[in-house]
Amino acid sequence: MLTQRPKGTNDLLPGQTEKWRYIENTIRQVCSEYGYQEIRTPIFEHTELFQRGVGETTDIVEKEMYTFLDKGYRSVTLRPEGTASVCRAYVENKLYAGPQPVKLYYVGPMFRYERPQAGRFRQFNQFGIEVFGSTNPAVDAEVITLAMDFYERLGLKNLEVHLNSVGCRRCRPVHKAKLQEFLRPNLDKFCPNCQGRFERNPLRMLDCKNPGCRELSAGAPTTTQCLCEECAEHFEQVKGYLEKVGVRYRVDERLVRGLDYYTKTAFEIMVEEIGAQSAICGGGRYDGLIEEIGGPATPGIGFALGMERIFSALAVQGIEIPLETKADVYLAALGEPAVQEAFKLQAQLRKLHLKVEMDYLARGLKAQLKAADRLKAKYAVILGEDELARGAATVRRMDSGDQQEVKLIDLIDFLAVNK
Ligand code: HAM
Repeated sequence: MLTQRPKGTNDLLPGQTEKWRYIENTIRQVCSEYGYQEIRTPIFEHTELFQRGVGETTDIVEKEMYTFLDKGYRSVTLRPEGTASVCRAYVENKLYAGPQPVKLYYVGPMFRYERPQAGRFRQFNQFGIEVFGSTNPAVDAEVITLAMDFYERLGLKNLEVHLNSVGCRRCRPVHKAKLQEFLRPNLDKFCPNCQGRFERNPLRMLDCKNPGCRELSAGAPTTTQCLCEECAEHFEQVKGYLEKVGVRYRVDERLVRGLDYYTKTAFEIMVEEIGAQSAICGGGRYDGLIEEIGGPATPGIGFALGMERIFSALAVQGIEIPLETKADVYLAALGEPAVQEAFKLQAQLRKLHLKVEMDYLARGLKAQLKAADRLKAKYAVILGEDELARGAATVRRMDSGDQQEVKLIDLIDFLAVNK
C-alpha cells in the first residue's frame, strides 16, 4: 500500500513530463492566438455547486464525486469537471460586468470515482475553454475549430466531430414528452438503469450501451426533429460556419452528453482507433447554467478535452512529440584538479544559459562519454590532466566524433558561439 498509488491515478515521470509540457505549451499558444485567457479555480468546491451545476441525475453527481466533510463539517467535492467552477468564478468575480464575451481556458486535474480502464482514470487532466456572453453561432463554431486546430498542431489525424443540438428550455419538454410516448410501451423491457432514467432524463436512455436497449430506442424521436425555430436556425448557422472554415462534422442525433447543463449545440470529437474511450473532447452550449447557479442570465459555451487521451491517440497514430535537448555541453573531467576546473566552467556556462552537465560519480572517460551520449549533448568537453597542464580542453562534437583542442581562455566563447 505504502508504495502504491491509488487506483486510477498516474505518476508522470521524467521523460513524460517533458511531453506534457510540450502539450501544455501548444495549448497556451493556441489559446493566446484565439484570444482566450487562463483561469485557475480551486481543486475543490462546495458540493452544492456540482449538484446544481452538473445536474442531480447525472452519473457524475449520483456516483462519481469525491465528496467529503471538511473539519468544519462542510460538504466539499474535488472538482469532477471545470465548467461549473469557471461559471461560479465568472459570477463571484462579476466578470459579467466587464467587456463581453469573456473567453477563458484552464488546464488541470479533475476527479471522478469511475471504474478505471484504458483511457479512464480517477484523477485525469482536462484542457477546457469557456466563452460567456454571446449566443452567436459563430462562437460555437470557433470553439469547435479551436479544439480541432489544437489537435492538428499535435499532428493528430482521423478526428471526427459529432454534432447535435439538444434544444432549449422551450423545445426540450416537447422532445421529452414525445420520447416518453415512444419509449413507454416497451419500458419494462429496458435495463434497470434506463427505467430509472425514464421519468427524470429519458434523453439519456438513447445513450445506453446495452444492445437490447439500443434496439428498443431505435427510431425514437430525435432532438433535432423537435427543435423550436430559434434552435433549428442556430443549429443551421453553426453548421454553416463550420463549413466555411472547412471543419468536417457528422450530425449525430444520438449524441447525448453526460452532463445536464447543455442547450442547443452539443458535440464530441472522436478518434475511433483508441478504442472504447474514443471521446477525446466533449462540449456544448449551456445558456441556462449561469442563471441556474445564481448569476445573471448569461449564455455560455465550451469544451473540455482529456489530456491522457491525447497520449493514447498519439501512440496509436505513431506520432512522436519533439523533445528538447537535455544538454548542450557535457564536461568530462578526470582527476581532482580537472573536476575543480569543470565545476567552475559549468557555473560560467550556465550563466550564459547553456544546458551543462558534468560527472558527479568519479567515472572514467568512457562512462562519462556514454553519459554525454545519453543526454544527447552536442559537445563533450574533455578535461584531463594533460589538457589541463596545457591550459586547454578537448572539445568533441558528439554527432561526428570530430575533436579539437581549445584553450581554456577561449572555451566559453567557443561553446557560446557554436552552441
Ligand atoms: P466530459 O465529456 O465529461 O465534459 O469530459 C470531457 C473530456 O474529458 C472527455 O471527452 C474525455 O476526453 C475526458 N475525460 C472525462 N472523464 C475522464 C476520465 N475518467 N479519464 C480520462 N479522461 C476523461 C466535461 O467535463 C464538460 N465540463 C465539458 C464542457 C466544457 N462543456 C462545456 N464546457
